[in-house]
Amino acid sequence: MNKKELFKNLLEKIKSIVEGKGGREEKLQRICQILKEKVPHYDWVGIYFADAERKELLLGPFAGEETEHMRIKFGQGICGQAAEKLSTFIVQDVSKETNYLACSPFVKSEIVVPIFKDGNFVAELDIDSHKLSPFSEEDKDFLEKVCEIISEVV
Ligand code: SME
Repeated sequence: MNKKELFKNLLEKIKSIVEGKGGREEKLQRICQILKEKVPHYDWVGIYFADAERKELLLGPFAGEETEHMRIKFGQGICGQAAEKLSTFIVQDVSKETNYLACSPFVKSEIVVPIFKDGNFVAELDIDSHKLSPFSEEDKDFLEKVCEIISEVV
């Protein structure tokens, strides 16, 4: 299956999870799991919820290794920068990013996509990869669509 077909199938699957039974955490957990399992270059997939008052991100459901970064201040690391930019942030080589919070020595690249609900920034989808420069425009378009779909449940 090529990337285009894979992403099309995954969007359908994610829609059905969002529309199906279960609570918020359970649905988001399943979506993180499916993205990690089905896309070979997605090695850690998680949701950070935004606390606008405290200007902090709080780790929600995730698939992959445990991380020490349970809370991240806006502006800190790739996730915190995305919370200030409020647009998709791709770092194809984390060794070149000085404002970076390392989770695992295997991580080489990262993409963070903000999630909006009724126009407000509410969460982020964060994906780490063990490959260098793995994120194409197709990944960006796909993950932005994923975030539109999951904004219903965050
Ligand atoms: N690397 C992120 C921290 C979160 S972990 O990837 C799970 C960052 O620099 O913000």
